Amino acid sequence: MIRKLKPAVKVSDELKKMLNDAIAIEIAASVQYMWQYVQVMGVKGRAVASKFKETAIAEMKQAEDLAERLWYLNGTPTTQPAPIKVGESLKEFLELDTKMEEEGIRLYKRMIDQAQKDGDVTTAFMIKEILEVEEEHHDLFTTMLEEI
Ligand SMILES: [Fe+2]
Repeated sequence: MIRKLKPAVKVSDELKKMLNDAIAIEIAASVQYMWQYVQVMGVKGRAVASKFKETAIAEMKQAEDLAERLWYLNGTPTTQPAPIKVGESLKEFLELDTKMEEEGIRLYKRMIDQAQKDGDVTTAFMIKEILEVEEEHHDLFTTMLEEI
């Protein structure tokens, strides 16, 4: 695999670690939501099943974007997901997913600060866009929770 010898930006190890923490969360979220899609049951569950699938795919795309950025910055993307908790009922799925999104949101806010500190405007901009999507996911899961 060919590496860029000198990326245009040099960032702290801390930011690289945060990128890997984010990748781990996004991989975990992707698997968690997809398996919930597979396991969802009941009339209410069926009505919202596609949301789990759509969100799972969005999370994997975010993992890809983060991995690309980390690779560009001379880091190696992790293959290890954060803990995955599928749950056993629709309510539990949504509670666990809300927590997963909250964890991501907390990390992304810290990452934006770190990227700015490192003078890495591109990563800061990218993370802001991901944060916006994560807030939408959080809103989706909490809205669904209110409806069941
Ligand atoms: Fe998300």
